[in-house]
Amino acid sequence: KSCQSVCQITHAHNTVSNFKRFHGRAFNDPFVQKEKEKLSYDLVPMKNGGVGVKVMYMDEEHIFSVEQISAMLLTKLKETAESNLKKPVTDCVISVPSFFTDAERRSLLDAAQIVGLNCLRLMNDMTAVALNYGIYKQDLPAPEEKPRIVVFVDMGHSAFQVSACAFNKSKLKVLGTAFDPFLGGRNFDGKLVDYFCAEIKSKYKLDPKTKVRALLRLYQECEKLKKLMSSNSTDIPLNIECFMNDTDVSGKMNRSQFEELCADLLQRIEMPLLSLMEQTQLKVEDVNAVEIVGGATRIPAVKERIAKFFGKDVSTTLNADEAIARGCALQCAILSPAFKVREFSVTDATPFPISLLWNTEAEDTEGVHEVFSRNHAAPFSKVLTFYRKGPFELEAFYSDPNGVPYPESKIGKYVIQNVAAQKDGEKSKVKVKVRVNTHGIFSVSTASMVEPVKNEECEDVSVETEVEKEVRKIILFFFFLTQTNEKKGDQPPEAKKPKIKVKNVELPIEANLVWQLGKDLLNMYIETEGKMIMQDKLEKERNDAKNAVEEYVYEFRDKLSGPYEKFVCEKDLQGFSALLAETEGWLYEEGEDEAKQVYVEKLENLKKLGTPIEMRFQEAEERPKLLQELGHRLQYYATIAGEFKNKDEKYIHIDEMEMMKVEKCVSEVVEWMNNAVSAQAKKSLDQDPAVHSSEIKAKLQELNNVCEPVVTQPKPKVDSPKEENPLSEQSDYKTEDMGDDKNSEMPQQNGECHPSDQNTINMDLD
Ligand SMILES: *[C@@H]1O[C@H](CO)[C@@H](O)[C@H](O)[C@H]1NC(C)=O
Ligand SMILES: *[C@@H]1O[C@H](CO)[C@@H](O)[C@H](O)[C@H]1NC(C)=O
Ligand SMILES: *[C@@H]1O[C@H](CO)[C@@H](O)[C@H](O)[C@H]1NC(C)=O
Ligand SMILES: *[C@@H]1O[C@H](CO)[C@@H](O)[C@H](O)[C@H]1NC(C)=O
Repeated sequence: KSCQSVCQITHAHNTVSNFKRFHGRAFNDPFVQKEKEKLSYDLVPMKNGGVGVKVMYMDEEHIFSVEQISAMLLTKLKETAESNLKKPVTDCVISVPSFFTDAERRSLLDAAQIVGLNCLRLMNDMTAVALNYGIYKQDLPAPEEKPRIVVFVDMGHSAFQVSACAFNKSKLKVLGTAFDPFLGGRNFDGKLVDYFCAEIKSKYKLDPKTKVRALLRLYQECEKLKKLMSSNSTDIPLNIECFMNDTDVSGKMNRSQFEELCADLLQRIEMPLLSLMEQTQLKVEDVNAVEIVGGATRIPAVKERIAKFFGKDVSTTLNADEAIARGCALQCAILSPAFKVREFSVTDATPFPISLLWNTEAEDTEGVHEVFSRNHAAPFSKVLTFYRKGPFELEAFYSDPNGVPYPESKIGKYVIQNVAAQKDGEKSKVKVKVRVNTHGIFSVSTASMVEPVKNEECEDVSVETEVEKEVRKIILFFFFLTQTNEKKGDQPPEAKKPKIKVKNVELPIEANLVWQLGKDLLNMYIETEGKMIMQDKLEKERNDAKNAVEEYVYEFRDKLSGPYEKFVCEKDLQGFSALLAETEGWLYEEGEDEAKQVYVEKLENLKKLGTPIEMRFQEAEERPKLLQELGHRLQYYATIAGEFKNKDEKYIHIDEMEMMKVEKCVSEVVEWMNNAVSAQAKKSLDQDPAVHSSEIKAKLQELNNVCEPVVTQPKPKVDSPKEENPLSEQSDYKTEDMGDDKNSEMPQQNGECHPSDQNTINMDLD
């Protein structure tokens, strides 16, 4: 029994998992090559050198880019959200590890674009956690008080991330982040797997590493074992039935053994914590709380290491598995106009310092400047000023390549085009805006050349000042670069400046980024995804149609030997049972893989026989109840008519002619009902009924429509004001007064069918 296992094992080659980290990387990236060995599915190079995944789709081998694979996941998530919310989803916030570089981030954004999702923000995992923590906290310090410092620690499946945040009421600022991108729960699983592989090899002479399925099962069992060891320090057994070559294997481990095995992993926990404290210049005493999230923080030794480092207990306020997703959902609600959420401002930090490199014009030398230092606030824009006579190139790169877990330190090259010398041959002033945007992605976003204009072109002056103001609003920091070889005398004297009117001319920028999907490729992916969504939809409809046939067969077979038995004659029963059996056989053989229409027709054929039986059964269920109800109503109106004849106080205000209508209607319906009951008595259950429940319902309505307005007429208001309307109390049916005084004061005088009359009893009619 345990030889059958979950999808991931049975469809190992076609189940794609753990692919997020392949985004924005080359196939021959060392990280990708190392991961490739551990995967149960095939990675192949794409034409553009990127990572492709080879899977079977619609019985054919297909290669999908990692962006497409993520797009499929996003489609699934989008559909799940839509079916729960019952409305379309267009906006999203997607989390990324804080150590994701621009190429990885852009690739993930492309995946969102393939699905047509509008990604409002790529949010760093730990920032999402911090938002999830802060937005619900009622006791955060006021802005003038000392902010609360909280360290967040996340050890998930494949990475270890930490961040320090300062909280104000309604504001959070990330002070710093640190990480070990290769330390996560899976490393601990790996230790167990290696240990048991060695044990199985020596004990059973079997090598699990030679069989993907066996290895995957071992991984799953070790993960379970790891979880058990987290809550239980005694020996825990590991048993796997028919593991390989029909052999059952077993072993055991306990927590202290496990901790010894993982000593090197546990040692690595301290390093990012040290780095975080060093970067932020925080002392452990400054930290008000340490919040841990992520599945692997459930390992007691991991928790202990963190607590020991900070010299205080760690808190587990947040949901360990969902803290990041919840933070993203909150951020999305804040950013999306569709929701109203408490204001909570989030200032993130740039994980890697970013520098710009350029050639100076006159000599063949280079200029370098770090535009965003480590932990610089983000999103953020800066404006740089250059003096140039022609187009020039800027190169952006991570200034500390060793700190970046990515093989390429270049971010991109940007050519500032259309730069020309001024009319007097002087260099032009070129302003270049650089930005780390809300996704944490660097860009040279705009460039403009400042040109003097003749005095008569007055309108340009105002344009200039408007632009200047706008720029000043955005710039929180402004810095000025002058070339080393530039003599002071070359510049126009400061005093003259205000008299020269200038305008800004936008300059085109040609960007050449590391790992950018081309527009054509992206459009092709969008088209392919659309086709696959359509294909999935058709496939789902086809499956639904097939399932409907299957369900019908099983349901009817059960009911024919149960509740429906009496409602079908012997001959029909035999014919129908034979058809059901034949259809069942067909479903598993030649009818296993048919077009939707074939299943629809099969179902229709079955229904031709089934529906009359079903109908007779339902009629027989409803008929007695409806007849009883009709009987009650007839009795009720007949009683009122009797009381009227006896000059009862209650009905003295009703016109005699009208009451005669009631009497007449009652006797007609009584006759109809008697006929119906005697006709039905001659029928057996396997025959179609003589009277249908819909007819009884119609009669009931007719009776009520005629009689109810008459008998519920309010008494005219007489002098004595204490007189109440006792009607509704008396009848066993409540009539509803709609609260419109005008109507109740006026004596009503209609006795005709007025189904929409407000005093008509509301009944469930078809
Ligand atoms: C707290 O609020 C004040 C005033 O708004 C601000 O200057 C300060 O930077 C804030 N601190 C944090 C940690 O955001
Ligand atoms: C854990 O296992 C080791 C090695 O088998 C053993 O020496 C130790 O006593 C065990 N500890 C517990 C608490 O069972
Ligand atoms: C711990 O695990 C052992 C072995 O599976 C079991 O016998 C014991 O009841 C467990 N103890 C607790 C507290 O769960
Ligand atoms: C397990 O089965 C494989 C293939 O059937 C065979 O080559 C191998 O020798 C077997 N190993 C053992 C230890 O029986």
